[in-house]
Amino acid sequence: MKILLVGNGGREHAIAWKLLQSKDVEKIFCTPGNGGTATLPACENVPLAVDDFAGISQLAAKEGISLVVVGPEVPLAHGITDYLQAKGLMVFGPNRMGAQIEASKAWAKAFMQEAGIPTAKSAVFTEGLAAKSYVKAEGIPIVLKADGLAAGKGVIIAETLEQAEAAIEAIFGGQFGSAGNFIVIEEYLPGQEVSVLALTDGVTIRPLLPAQDHKRIGEGDTGDNTGGMGAYAPAPIATEEMMSRVQKEVLESAIATFNKRGIDYRGVLYAGLMVLPDGNFSVLEFNCRFGDPETQVILPLLDTPLVDLLIACAQQKLSEMPPIKWKDGAAATVVAASGGYPGDYVKGKVITGISEAQTKDGNDSHPASYIFHAGTKLESSQLLTDGGRVLNITGIGKDFKQALAQAYKSIAQIQFEGMYYRRDIGHRLEKQTEV
Ligand code: AMP
Ligand code: GLY
Repeated sequence: MKILLVGNGGREHAIAWKLLQSKDVEKIFCTPGNGGTATLPACENVPLAVDDFAGISQLAAKEGISLVVVGPEVPLAHGITDYLQAKGLMVFGPNRMGAQIEASKAWAKAFMQEAGIPTAKSAVFTEGLAAKSYVKAEGIPIVLKADGLAAGKGVIIAETLEQAEAAIEAIFGGQFGSAGNFIVIEEYLPGQEVSVLALTDGVTIRPLLPAQDHKRIGEGDTGDNTGGMGAYAPAPIATEEMMSRVQKEVLESAIATFNKRGIDYRGVLYAGLMVLPDGNFSVLEFNCRFGDPETQVILPLLDTPLVDLLIACAQQKLSEMPPIKWKDGAAATVVAASGGYPGDYVKGKVITGISEAQTKDGNDSHPASYIFHAGTKLESSQLLTDGGRVLNITGIGKDFKQALAQAYKSIAQIQFEGMYYRRDIGHRLEKQTEV
């Protein structure tokens, strides 16, 4: 079977690596891919943009592709699934209407209210005056969200009224383009975030291992928000009891509501939850795709062949699959970023030490390290930095202590000019478990 994978992040490198572990997968074409997918055996990068639907469809027809797997949210929100399905292709990833759950925060809020899914109190505004008076009435801290896709940058947590007003002006002033036509203003919730990703075929929904991400650039969770600086799984904060509540109150409620609305949602449904100090939880957001960097810690622990799960979702046969099997142990990933990220940074720096840093693939023994590339490119056999988040260094161990030690031991082998990484990935675990 040949698979076409859309995207170019650490998530896509991890998906391609996992798919290739199945004997059934003969080859993967990655559009456009990165330096990591370029070096995977049986994986070929094709320089097509993720929103070049016609180009992707022509490539799929030419190569006899059996399954298209879509990584990022932007092509999903623009209807890549609808487009490719109309050409007769099998696609993993929700259609355009389903992707609204991530693409519009106002849409997602109305959906959650209809489904009875626990979420923060909020209101939607289309102009600044009413938004400002709502903020005055509610008080601070308060959370302001541009409605549309803003690459994780459209959320502002205001700690003063001045900050809230400035955020309202920035959003309505066009700083986020059309993503800022609406603003969602939401109650601030304290607690710890956890990512629950689930696979669904539109009828059955099966959760993956829960993961925790580290959004801020600085140690101790300080500084600017990023795409994610590290993650680990299975997150102990999501207890079995909580996961069974999430299954019923969030995942199954969401599927029932999609069905009620006539939306056939097949793919990943990712619930970003806040675990509140009282042990309850609230949904902050939904995403319509695999998380990045969560995927880089979830997939190394997956024992069931990924390709079987993705096809079962696309063909609405997930209920026929046996329960998802996981490997023992824990996984942690540390992101190596370009100096200056999430602000300005320089690309094109030579990366060394990757082969020394990763352990040999192909056995389940602990500890092990896998390097998943994000912003890298291969140029004349030289690996160069090509983005803000450059590499994900994933360590696998019998427990978190070993997984983290392995990730940090490996990252110490890697060099590029200006490389930055957080040294405190997993710091919340100390309060949750013995590490
Ligand atoms: P979102 O894209 O809606 O998940 O928001 C991005 C980030 O903002 C989340 O991962 C949280 O760290 C933070 N955030 C969003 N909503 C809230 C909220 N209601 N209370 C506290 N933090 C929030
Ligand atoms: N790790 C956060 C996300 O994928 O949105």
